[in-house]
Amino acid sequence: MRIDIITIHPKLLISPFEHSILKRAQQKKLVNVNIINLRNYANTKHKNTDDYAFGGGAGMVMMIEPIDNCIKALKADNHYDEIIYLSPDGEKLNQSVANQLSLCKNIILLCGHYKGVDERVRQHLITREISIGDYVLTGGELAAAVVADSIIRLLPGVLNDETSALNDSFQDGLVAPPVYTRPAEYNGWQVPEVLLSGNEKVIDDWRHQQSLNRTKIRRPDLLQ
Ligand code: ADE
Repeated sequence: MRIDIITIHPKLLISPFEHSILKRAQQKKLVNVNIINLRNYANTKHKNTDDYAFGGGAGMVMMIEPIDNCIKALKADNHYDEIIYLSPDGEKLNQSVANQLSLCKNIILLCGHYKGVDERVRQHLITREISIGDYVLTGGELAAAVVADSIIRLLPGVLNDETSALNDSFQDGLVAPPVYTRPAEYNGWQVPEVLLSGNEKVIDDWRHQQSLNRTKIRRPDLLQ
């Protein structure tokens, strides 16, 4: 899979992909993440990517031309299944959206800033809009990193034990059960006896029951 991220702050997006699982996924060539500096596609002398809003009002608006130039250049070399604009008023990211996107071959993530992008970008250049939650960030970069992470970990071969993504919270519509590691007793706080039993069937049943109970208490909306 190829994930191209268009941003005016490329440095903001370096670190999230340079560690741990996301780094290894790239080394193993399971995903190719490219951070693209939008300024390189600006035509003005000062490489502007934003301008004042028509009709007045505070806040700058990201211009359509550099974004169009950039997307056109990327499309000349690749076919994209989705061109996604990160926006607080987009479709809310959840596990089902991440699952869908993990089936794409190539995607573009476009990071917004200021008051957002010229509306014509949203009307004509992108295929989808995603929000990571009902709060406003200073830009789309952190949202793009969240979306990319949620996708990359689902790609076959990225997690050591492929079933571990299947057991994630939300994959089966439930939150994950509690987990424990050694020591079996700490400060008098015991690990549930059943987990030490070695009986796989009993442990599976217990975990499922815990998931159900937790979902009822923490996320009853998931059971509706
Ligand atoms: N850009 C600013 N806030 C955002 C959010 N909540 N989700 C996605 N992109 C954003």
